Amino acid sequence: MHRRTVLTACLAAPFFPLLARAQGAVDSTMDHAAMGHAMPAAPAAGASPRPPGGAPLAAWPTLGARGELRAAPGLLHWGGGLNTPSWGYNGAALGPLLEWRAGEAVDMTLVNALPEASNIHWHGLEVPASEDGHPRDAVEAGQRRAYRFTVPEVDGLFWYHPHPHGRTAFQVAMGLAGPIRVRGGRSPLPADGIDERVLMITDQRLLADGRIAPHSDADWMDGREGDLLLVNGQYQPVLSVRAGGWLRLRLINACAARYLNLSLPGHVWRQIGADGGWLEQVQAPVKQLLLVPGERADVLVALDGAPGSRAVLQSLPYVRGKMVSAEQSRPEPILSVHYQRTAAQARPPLPRRLADIAPLPAPAVRREVVLSETMSMEGGKHQMAFLINDRRYDDMNRADFTGKVGEVEEWTVHNRSDMDHPFHLHGAAFQVQWRQASAQHPRTPETLRAWRDVVNLKPGESLALRFVQRLPGDRLFHCHILEHEDQGMMATLRVVG
Ligand code: C2O
Ligand code: CU
Ligand code: CU
Repeated sequence: MHRRTVLTACLAAPFFPLLARAQGAVDSTMDHAAMGHAMPAAPAAGASPRPPGGAPLAAWPTLGARGELRAAPGLLHWGGGLNTPSWGYNGAALGPLLEWRAGEAVDMTLVNALPEASNIHWHGLEVPASEDGHPRDAVEAGQRRAYRFTVPEVDGLFWYHPHPHGRTAFQVAMGLAGPIRVRGGRSPLPADGIDERVLMITDQRLLADGRIAPHSDADWMDGREGDLLLVNGQYQPVLSVRAGGWLRLRLINACAARYLNLSLPGHVWRQIGADGGWLEQVQAPVKQLLLVPGERADVLVALDGAPGSRAVLQSLPYVRGKMVSAEQSRPEPILSVHYQRTAAQARPPLPRRLADIAPLPAPAVRREVVLSETMSMEGGKHQMAFLINDRRYDDMNRADFTGKVGEVEEWTVHNRSDMDHPFHLHGAAFQVQWRQASAQHPRTPETLRAWRDVVNLKPGESLALRFVQRLPGDRLFHCHILEHEDQGMMATLRVVG
Protein backbone atom coordinates (compact mmCIF):
# COMPACT_ATOMS: atom_id res chain seq x y z
CA MET A 1 0.00 0.00 0.00
CA HIS A 2 1.20 3.51 -0.69
CA ARG A 3 2.52 5.31 2.34
CA ARG A 4 -0.03 8.07 2.19
CA THR A 5 -2.90 5.61 2.11
CA VAL A 6 -1.57 3.88 5.20
CA LEU A 7 -1.18 7.14 7.02
CA THR A 8 -4.58 8.41 6.09
CA ALA A 9 -6.05 5.14 7.28
CA CYS A 10 -4.32 5.21 10.61
CA LEU A 11 -4.92 8.90 11.23
CA ALA A 12 -8.58 8.35 10.64
CA ALA A 13 -8.75 5.61 13.27
CA PRO A 14 -10.50 6.77 16.43
CA PHE A 15 -7.66 5.61 18.66
CA PHE A 16 -4.66 6.82 16.78
CA PRO A 17 -2.00 6.59 19.45
CA LEU A 18 1.11 8.71 19.61
CA LEU A 19 3.27 7.57 16.81
CA ALA A 20 6.05 5.66 18.40
CA ARG A 21 8.74 8.03 17.34
CA ALA A 22 11.94 6.50 16.17
CA GLN A 23 13.92 7.54 19.19
CA GLY A 24 11.27 6.50 21.68
CA ALA A 25 12.36 2.91 21.62
CA VAL A 26 16.01 3.84 21.87
CA ASP A 27 16.11 6.57 24.42
CA SER A 28 13.33 7.18 26.84
CA THR A 29 14.47 10.77 27.42
CA MET A 30 12.92 11.48 24.03
CA ASP A 31 9.47 10.80 25.37
CA HIS A 32 8.03 14.26 25.59
CA ALA A 33 5.12 13.15 27.71
CA ALA A 34 7.57 11.69 30.21
CA MET A 35 9.51 14.96 30.16
CA GLY A 36 6.44 16.79 31.35
CA HIS A 37 5.57 18.30 27.99
CA ALA A 38 1.97 17.25 27.67
CA MET A 39 0.89 16.55 24.12
CA PRO A 40 -2.63 17.80 23.60
CA ALA A 41 -4.15 17.47 20.17
CA ALA A 42 -2.52 19.82 17.68
CA PRO A 43 -4.47 23.01 17.18
CA ALA A 44 -5.78 23.49 13.67
CA ALA A 45 -3.34 25.28 11.39
CA GLY A 46 -3.91 29.00 11.44
CA ALA A 47 -5.26 28.89 14.95
CA SER A 48 -2.58 30.86 16.79
CA PRO A 49 -3.72 34.06 18.45
CA ARG A 50 -2.45 36.95 16.34
CA PRO A 51 0.02 39.30 17.95
CA PRO A 52 -0.26 42.94 16.92
CA GLY A 53 1.94 43.73 13.90
CA GLY A 54 3.12 46.97 12.38
CA ALA A 55 5.92 47.93 14.77
CA PRO A 56 9.15 49.14 13.19
CA LEU A 57 11.66 46.37 12.54
CA ALA A 58 13.92 46.59 15.58
CA ALA A 59 17.69 46.72 15.39
CA TRP A 60 19.44 43.55 16.56
CA PRO A 61 21.15 43.63 19.91
CA THR A 62 24.73 42.67 19.09
CA LEU A 63 27.61 40.90 20.76
CA GLY A 64 31.22 40.55 19.67
CA ALA A 65 33.56 37.59 19.84
CA ARG A 66 33.82 37.46 23.61
CA GLY A 67 30.86 37.23 25.86
CA GLU A 68 28.17 35.19 27.42
CA LEU A 69 25.11 33.58 25.90
CA ARG A 70 22.73 32.81 28.70
CA ALA A 71 20.09 30.33 27.61
CA ALA A 72 17.12 30.77 29.89
CA PRO A 73 13.35 30.72 30.05
CA GLY A 74 11.74 34.10 29.60
CA LEU A 75 8.41 35.70 28.87
CA LEU A 76 7.84 37.16 25.45
CA HIS A 77 5.51 40.17 25.41
CA TRP A 78 3.88 40.48 22.02
CA GLY A 79 1.71 43.43 23.04
CA GLY A 80 -2.05 43.43 23.26
CA GLY A 81 -1.85 41.28 26.41
CA LEU A 82 -0.45 38.26 24.56
CA ASN A 83 2.49 36.69 26.41
CA THR A 84 4.46 33.58 25.60
CA PRO A 85 6.75 31.66 27.92
CA SER A 86 9.75 30.96 25.73
CA TRP A 87 13.47 30.29 25.75
CA GLY A 88 16.12 32.67 24.49
CA TYR A 89 19.76 33.69 24.69
CA ASN A 90 20.19 36.86 26.76
CA GLY A 91 16.50 37.63 26.25
CA ALA A 92 13.06 36.06 26.01
CA ALA A 93 13.56 34.59 22.53
CA LEU A 94 16.27 34.28 19.89
CA GLY A 95 19.66 35.76 20.78
CA PRO A 96 21.92 38.65 19.87
CA LEU A 97 23.45 39.11 16.43
CA LEU A 98 27.05 38.00 16.86
CA GLU A 99 29.33 40.35 14.93
CA TRP A 100 32.67 38.67 14.27
CA ARG A 101 35.69 39.30 12.12
CA ALA A 102 37.51 36.60 10.19
CA GLY A 103 40.61 35.50 12.09
CA GLU A 104 39.34 36.81 15.41
CA ALA A 105 39.55 34.70 18.59
CA VAL A 106 36.11 33.69 19.86
CA ASP A 107 35.48 32.99 23.51
CA MET A 108 31.77 32.61 24.11
CA THR A 109 30.36 31.08 27.26
CA LEU A 110 27.07 29.26 27.19
CA VAL A 111 25.37 29.61 30.53
CA ASN A 112 22.68 26.97 30.62
CA ALA A 113 19.85 28.26 32.79
CA LEU A 114 17.36 25.96 31.05
CA PRO A 115 15.70 23.03 32.80
CA GLU A 116 17.53 20.57 30.50
CA ALA A 117 20.85 19.95 28.77
CA SER A 118 21.73 22.08 25.78
CA ASN A 119 24.74 23.19 23.72
CA ILE A 120 25.56 25.51 20.84
CA HIS A 121 26.29 24.62 17.25
CA TRP A 122 27.83 27.34 15.05
CA HIS A 123 25.97 26.44 11.90
CA GLY A 124 28.10 26.77 8.77
CA LEU A 125 31.35 27.77 10.44
CA GLU A 126 34.44 25.61 10.22
CA VAL A 127 35.35 25.37 13.90
CA PRO A 128 37.12 22.51 15.73
CA ALA A 129 34.79 19.57 16.28
CA SER A 130 35.21 19.88 20.05
CA GLU A 131 33.74 23.42 19.90
CA ASP A 132 30.95 22.75 17.43
CA GLY A 133 28.12 21.66 19.70
CA HIS A 134 28.23 17.93 19.06
CA PRO A 135 25.27 16.28 20.82
CA ARG A 136 27.82 14.34 22.91
CA ASP A 137 29.05 17.62 24.31
CA ALA A 138 25.98 18.55 26.26
CA VAL A 139 26.03 21.33 28.81
CA GLU A 140 23.84 20.12 31.64
CA ALA A 141 21.16 22.30 33.20
CA GLY A 142 22.80 24.77 35.54
CA GLN A 143 26.25 24.32 33.97
CA ARG A 144 28.33 26.55 31.73
CA ARG A 145 31.05 26.06 29.17
CA ALA A 146 33.22 28.22 26.98
CA TYR A 147 33.44 27.73 23.22
CA ARG A 148 36.85 28.81 21.98
CA PHE A 149 37.95 28.94 18.36
CA THR A 150 39.27 31.23 15.67
CA VAL A 151 36.76 32.65 13.23
CA PRO A 152 37.56 31.05 9.86
CA GLU A 153 38.56 33.17 6.85
CA VAL A 154 35.08 33.74 5.51
CA ASP A 155 32.77 36.66 4.85
CA GLY A 156 29.20 35.55 5.28
CA LEU A 157 26.15 34.98 7.39
CA PHE A 158 25.90 32.01 9.72
CA TRP A 159 23.80 31.15 12.73
CA TYR A 160 23.84 29.42 16.06
CA HIS A 161 21.35 27.07 17.60
CA PRO A 162 21.26 24.21 20.12
CA HIS A 163 22.09 20.68 18.96
CA PRO A 164 21.36 18.40 21.93
CA HIS A 165 20.61 14.77 21.24
CA GLY A 166 16.97 14.37 20.23
CA ARG A 167 16.02 17.80 21.57
CA THR A 168 17.02 20.22 18.83
CA ALA A 169 13.54 20.62 17.37
CA PHE A 170 12.03 21.27 20.77
CA GLN A 171 14.66 23.79 21.88
CA VAL A 172 14.59 25.71 18.62
CA ALA A 173 10.78 25.77 18.75
CA MET A 174 11.11 27.29 22.24
CA GLY A 175 13.06 30.17 20.70
CA LEU A 176 16.76 29.30 20.81
CA ALA A 177 18.63 30.55 17.72
CA GLY A 178 20.55 33.61 16.61
CA PRO A 179 22.50 35.02 13.65
CA ILE A 180 26.25 35.41 13.19
CA ARG A 181 27.62 37.93 10.71
CA VAL A 182 31.26 37.45 9.86
CA ARG A 183 33.09 40.23 8.03
CA GLY A 184 36.28 39.28 6.29
CA GLY A 185 38.39 41.15 3.77
CA ARG A 186 37.02 44.13 1.95
CA SER A 187 33.46 44.24 0.68
CA PRO A 188 33.22 44.31 -3.12
CA LEU A 189 30.05 46.40 -2.83
CA PRO A 190 29.90 50.19 -2.97
CA ALA A 191 30.02 51.81 0.46
CA ASP A 192 26.99 54.07 0.03
CA GLY A 193 23.44 53.63 -1.16
CA ILE A 194 23.04 50.15 0.37
CA ASP A 195 20.88 49.54 3.40
CA GLU A 196 21.86 46.16 4.93
CA ARG A 197 19.52 44.14 7.15
CA VAL A 198 19.87 40.74 8.76
CA LEU A 199 16.50 38.98 8.56
CA MET A 200 16.18 35.76 10.53
CA ILE A 201 12.89 34.18 9.61
CA THR A 202 11.23 31.74 11.98
CA ASP A 203 7.71 30.48 12.45
CA GLN A 204 5.74 29.80 15.56
CA ARG A 205 2.47 28.25 16.64
CA LEU A 206 0.77 29.33 19.85
CA LEU A 207 -2.02 27.95 21.95
CA ALA A 208 -4.98 30.21 22.73
CA ASP A 209 -3.37 31.21 26.03
CA GLY A 210 -0.15 32.26 24.33
CA ARG A 211 1.97 29.22 25.20
CA ILE A 212 4.05 27.66 22.46
CA ALA A 213 2.07 24.78 20.98
CA PRO A 214 3.75 21.45 21.58
CA HIS A 215 4.70 19.22 18.71
CA SER A 216 1.83 17.18 17.31
CA ASP A 217 2.23 13.71 15.84
CA ALA A 218 1.93 15.29 12.40
CA ASP A 219 4.76 17.69 13.27
CA TRP A 220 7.03 14.73 14.02
CA MET A 221 6.45 13.44 10.53
CA ASP A 222 6.23 16.55 8.40
CA GLY A 223 8.34 18.86 10.49
CA ARG A 224 6.71 21.56 12.54
CA GLU A 225 5.46 24.66 10.79
CA GLY A 226 3.89 27.50 12.69
CA ASP A 227 1.20 29.73 11.26
CA LEU A 228 2.89 32.86 12.61
CA LEU A 229 5.83 33.88 10.44
CA LEU A 230 8.28 35.99 12.36
CA VAL A 231 11.21 38.07 11.28
CA ASN A 232 13.85 38.70 13.92
CA GLY A 233 11.22 37.46 16.35
CA GLN A 234 8.73 40.16 15.38
CA TYR A 235 5.32 39.58 13.87
CA GLN A 236 4.75 41.50 10.63
CA PRO A 237 6.99 44.45 11.41
CA VAL A 238 7.58 47.42 9.14
CA LEU A 239 10.87 48.18 7.43
CA SER A 240 11.17 51.78 6.39
CA VAL A 241 13.33 52.35 3.29
CA ARG A 242 14.40 55.22 1.12
CA ALA A 243 13.54 54.91 -2.55
CA GLY A 244 16.28 54.58 -5.10
CA GLY A 245 19.07 52.62 -3.45
CA TRP A 246 19.67 48.96 -2.81
CA LEU A 247 18.27 46.97 0.05
CA ARG A 248 20.74 44.25 0.98
CA LEU A 249 18.95 41.45 2.78
CA ARG A 250 20.96 38.88 4.68
CA LEU A 251 18.37 36.13 5.00
CA ILE A 252 18.35 33.08 7.24
CA ASN A 253 15.67 30.43 7.17
CA ALA A 254 15.71 29.39 10.83
CA CYS A 255 12.35 27.61 10.64
CA ALA A 256 12.38 23.98 11.73
CA ALA A 257 10.64 22.81 8.58
CA ARG A 258 9.04 25.66 6.66
CA TYR A 259 10.32 26.27 3.16
CA LEU A 260 10.37 29.96 2.31
CA ASN A 261 9.60 30.97 -1.22
CA LEU A 262 10.27 34.66 -0.82
CA SER A 263 8.83 37.38 -2.98
CA LEU A 264 8.47 41.14 -2.71
CA PRO A 265 5.85 42.02 -5.33
CA GLY A 266 6.99 44.75 -7.69
CA HIS A 267 10.64 44.00 -6.91
CA VAL A 268 13.30 41.60 -8.09
CA TRP A 269 16.11 39.86 -6.20
CA ARG A 270 19.73 39.72 -7.24
CA GLN A 271 21.55 37.09 -5.27
CA ILE A 272 25.11 37.98 -4.27
CA GLY A 273 25.84 35.39 -1.62
CA ALA A 274 24.94 31.89 -0.42
CA ASP A 275 25.49 30.01 2.86
CA GLY A 276 29.28 30.34 2.89
CA GLY A 277 29.59 33.90 1.58
CA TRP A 278 29.92 35.76 -1.71
CA LEU A 279 28.97 34.31 -5.06
CA GLU A 280 31.40 35.04 -7.89
CA GLN A 281 29.07 37.50 -9.59
CA VAL A 282 25.83 39.33 -9.02
CA GLN A 283 23.11 37.01 -10.31
CA ALA A 284 20.44 37.91 -12.84
CA PRO A 285 17.29 39.33 -11.26
CA VAL A 286 14.60 36.87 -10.19
CA LYS A 287 11.15 37.35 -8.70
CA GLN A 288 11.29 34.55 -6.15
CA LEU A 289 13.90 33.09 -3.91
CA LEU A 290 13.59 29.66 -2.33
CA LEU A 291 15.28 29.39 1.04
CA VAL A 292 15.08 25.98 2.71
CA PRO A 293 15.48 25.32 6.45
CA GLY A 294 18.98 26.19 7.62
CA GLU A 295 19.90 28.00 4.42
CA ARG A 296 21.07 31.60 4.02
CA ALA A 297 21.05 33.99 1.09
CA ASP A 298 22.51 37.42 0.53
CA VAL A 299 20.45 39.42 -1.94
CA LEU A 300 20.14 42.92 -3.31
CA VAL A 301 16.70 44.36 -3.92
CA ALA A 302 16.48 47.46 -6.10
CA LEU A 303 14.27 49.89 -4.23
CA ASP A 304 12.19 50.86 -7.23
CA GLY A 305 8.98 51.70 -5.38
CA ALA A 306 7.68 55.26 -5.39
CA PRO A 307 8.22 57.40 -2.28
CA GLY A 308 5.25 56.77 0.02
CA SER A 309 4.40 53.34 -1.48
CA ARG A 310 4.38 49.95 0.28
CA ALA A 311 5.18 46.35 -0.53
CA VAL A 312 4.87 43.17 1.50
CA LEU A 313 7.67 40.63 1.78
CA GLN A 314 5.90 37.29 1.64
CA SER A 315 6.46 33.60 1.36
CA LEU A 316 4.63 31.97 -1.53
CA PRO A 317 3.31 28.41 -1.23
CA TYR A 318 5.82 25.61 -1.70
CA VAL A 319 4.72 22.00 -1.86
CA ARG A 320 7.21 19.68 -0.19
CA GLY A 321 5.46 16.32 -0.02
CA LYS A 322 4.13 16.43 3.52
CA MET A 323 2.72 13.16 4.76
CA VAL A 324 -0.08 14.36 6.98
CA SER A 325 -0.35 18.14 7.29
CA ALA A 326 -1.83 20.39 4.65
CA GLU A 327 0.61 21.89 2.18
CA GLN A 328 1.02 25.65 2.16
CA SER A 329 -1.74 27.14 0.07
CA ARG A 330 -1.51 30.92 0.30
CA PRO A 331 1.10 33.64 0.48
CA GLU A 332 2.15 34.40 4.04
CA PRO A 333 3.09 37.99 4.81
CA ILE A 334 6.38 38.43 6.67
CA LEU A 335 7.25 42.10 6.69
CA SER A 336 5.97 45.38 5.22
CA VAL A 337 8.35 47.60 3.33
CA HIS A 338 7.33 51.24 3.60
CA TYR A 339 8.94 53.78 1.33
CA GLN A 340 9.68 57.06 3.00
CA ARG A 341 8.30 60.16 1.33
CA THR A 342 11.75 61.62 0.78
CA ALA A 343 13.02 61.88 -2.79
CA ALA A 344 14.74 58.86 -4.30
CA GLN A 345 18.48 58.56 -3.82
CA ALA A 346 20.91 57.54 -6.52
CA ARG A 347 21.57 53.82 -6.91
CA PRO A 348 25.24 52.96 -7.05
CA PRO A 349 26.39 50.63 -9.82
CA LEU A 350 27.41 47.11 -8.82
CA PRO A 351 30.79 45.53 -9.47
CA ARG A 352 31.04 42.83 -12.12
CA ARG A 353 32.99 40.51 -9.91
CA LEU A 354 32.31 39.79 -6.23
CA ALA A 355 34.73 37.03 -5.34
CA ASP A 356 36.64 34.07 -6.69
CA ILE A 357 35.56 30.57 -5.84
CA ALA A 358 38.08 27.95 -6.82
CA PRO A 359 36.41 24.74 -7.99
CA LEU A 360 37.30 21.74 -5.88
CA PRO A 361 39.54 19.26 -7.72
CA ALA A 362 38.69 15.65 -8.50
CA PRO A 363 37.82 13.67 -5.38
CA ALA A 364 40.04 11.21 -3.57
CA VAL A 365 36.98 9.52 -2.10
CA ARG A 366 33.46 8.94 -3.37
CA ARG A 367 30.52 7.97 -1.19
CA GLU A 368 26.81 7.39 -1.55
CA VAL A 369 24.29 8.82 0.88
CA VAL A 370 20.67 7.72 0.75
CA LEU A 371 17.92 9.58 2.58
CA SER A 372 14.82 7.52 3.19
CA GLU A 373 11.73 7.18 5.33
CA THR A 374 10.12 3.95 6.32
CA MET A 375 6.96 3.09 8.08
CA SER A 376 6.20 -0.21 9.66
CA MET A 377 3.76 -1.81 12.04
CA GLU A 378 5.66 -3.02 15.06
CA GLY A 379 3.98 -4.28 18.17
CA GLY A 380 0.69 -2.89 16.91
CA LYS A 381 2.16 0.61 16.58
CA HIS A 382 2.95 2.58 13.47
CA GLN A 383 6.63 3.33 13.46
CA MET A 384 7.99 6.12 11.34
CA ALA A 385 11.69 6.31 10.82
CA PHE A 386 13.84 8.78 8.94
CA LEU A 387 17.09 7.19 7.86
CA ILE A 388 20.45 7.79 6.27
CA ASN A 389 21.85 4.73 4.51
CA ASP A 390 19.18 2.66 6.21
CA ARG A 391 20.28 3.62 9.68
CA ARG A 392 18.97 6.04 12.22
CA TYR A 393 21.19 8.18 14.41
CA ASP A 394 20.90 6.23 17.62
CA ASP A 395 24.57 6.06 18.59
CA MET A 396 26.46 9.30 19.05
CA ASN A 397 29.80 7.47 18.92
CA ARG A 398 29.31 5.49 15.73
CA ALA A 399 31.21 6.54 12.63
CA ASP A 400 29.16 5.99 9.51
CA PHE A 401 32.05 7.09 7.30
CA THR A 402 35.71 7.66 8.03
CA GLY A 403 37.54 10.27 5.99
CA LYS A 404 40.84 12.12 6.09
CA VAL A 405 41.75 15.70 6.79
CA GLY A 406 42.50 17.54 3.55
CA GLU A 407 41.02 14.94 1.17
CA VAL A 408 38.48 15.99 -1.41
CA GLU A 409 35.32 13.94 -0.97
CA GLU A 410 32.51 13.66 -3.46
CA TRP A 411 29.19 12.52 -2.11
CA THR A 412 26.24 11.53 -4.20
CA VAL A 413 23.17 12.16 -2.11
CA HIS A 414 19.90 10.50 -3.08
CA ASN A 415 16.46 11.34 -1.77
CA ARG A 416 14.57 8.05 -1.91
CA SER A 417 11.54 9.33 -0.07
CA ASP A 418 8.33 11.16 -0.88
CA MET A 419 9.24 14.38 0.87
CA ASP A 420 11.79 17.15 0.29
CA HIS A 421 14.76 17.06 2.68
CA PRO A 422 17.31 19.86 3.16
CA PHE A 423 20.69 18.14 3.49
CA HIS A 424 23.24 19.78 5.81
CA LEU A 425 26.90 19.03 6.57
CA HIS A 426 28.95 20.19 9.55
CA GLY A 427 32.59 21.24 9.48
CA ALA A 428 32.98 22.20 5.83
CA ALA A 429 31.11 24.02 3.12
CA PHE A 430 30.52 22.14 -0.12
CA GLN A 431 30.14 22.82 -3.82
CA VAL A 432 27.27 21.17 -5.67
CA GLN A 433 28.58 19.46 -8.83
CA TRP A 434 25.43 18.28 -10.54
CA ARG A 435 21.79 17.49 -9.90
CA GLN A 436 19.50 14.87 -11.31
CA ALA A 437 15.75 15.15 -10.89
CA SER A 438 15.35 11.36 -10.95
CA ALA A 439 17.06 8.29 -12.35
CA GLN A 440 15.17 8.88 -15.62
CA HIS A 441 16.57 12.36 -16.03
CA PRO A 442 20.01 13.43 -17.20
CA ARG A 443 22.48 14.92 -14.74
CA THR A 444 22.50 18.68 -14.91
CA PRO A 445 25.88 20.18 -14.13
CA GLU A 446 25.66 22.94 -11.54
CA THR A 447 26.65 26.14 -13.28
CA LEU A 448 26.46 28.43 -10.25
CA ARG A 449 29.57 27.92 -8.17
CA ALA A 450 28.86 28.58 -4.50
CA TRP A 451 29.88 27.53 -1.03
CA ARG A 452 26.89 25.97 0.65
CA ASP A 453 26.19 23.94 3.75
CA VAL A 454 22.52 23.21 3.05
CA VAL A 455 21.06 21.90 -0.17
CA ASN A 456 17.54 20.75 -0.85
CA LEU A 457 16.66 17.42 -2.43
CA LYS A 458 13.24 16.90 -3.87
CA PRO A 459 11.71 13.41 -3.79
CA GLY A 460 13.61 11.16 -6.19
CA GLU A 461 16.37 13.71 -6.71
CA SER A 462 20.10 12.96 -6.57
CA LEU A 463 22.98 15.38 -6.49
CA ALA A 464 26.72 15.34 -6.06
CA LEU A 465 28.65 17.64 -3.79
CA ARG A 466 32.34 18.05 -3.03
CA PHE A 467 34.08 19.29 0.06
CA VAL A 468 37.26 19.07 2.08
CA GLN A 469 37.29 18.71 5.84
CA ARG A 470 40.32 20.57 7.08
CA LEU A 471 39.98 19.70 10.76
CA PRO A 472 39.73 16.30 12.43
CA GLY A 473 36.79 15.06 14.47
CA ASP A 474 33.27 13.72 14.20
CA ARG A 475 31.16 15.78 11.81
CA LEU A 476 27.43 15.33 11.52
CA PHE A 477 25.39 15.43 8.36
CA HIS A 478 21.63 15.46 8.54
CA CYS A 479 18.30 16.64 7.30
CA HIS A 480 17.73 20.20 8.54
CA ILE A 481 14.05 19.58 9.10
CA LEU A 482 14.77 19.46 12.80
CA GLU A 483 12.15 16.85 13.59
CA HIS A 484 13.71 14.52 11.03
CA GLU A 485 17.15 15.17 12.47
CA ASP A 486 15.93 14.40 15.98
CA GLN A 487 14.31 11.21 14.77
CA GLY A 488 17.46 9.89 13.28
CA MET A 489 18.01 11.31 9.80
CA MET A 490 21.56 12.12 10.81
CA ALA A 491 24.92 10.39 10.59
CA THR A 492 28.60 10.90 11.33
CA LEU A 493 31.62 11.48 9.15
CA ARG A 494 34.69 10.75 11.28
CA VAL A 495 37.59 12.82 10.01
CA VAL A 496 41.02 11.58 11.02
CA GLY A 497 44.29 13.48 10.82
CU1 C2O B 1 21.99 23.92 11.81
CU2 C2O B 1 23.47 20.25 12.61
O1 C2O B 1 22.68 22.07 12.20
CU1 CU C 1 25.17 22.82 11.22
CU1 CU D 1 13.88 15.66 6.30
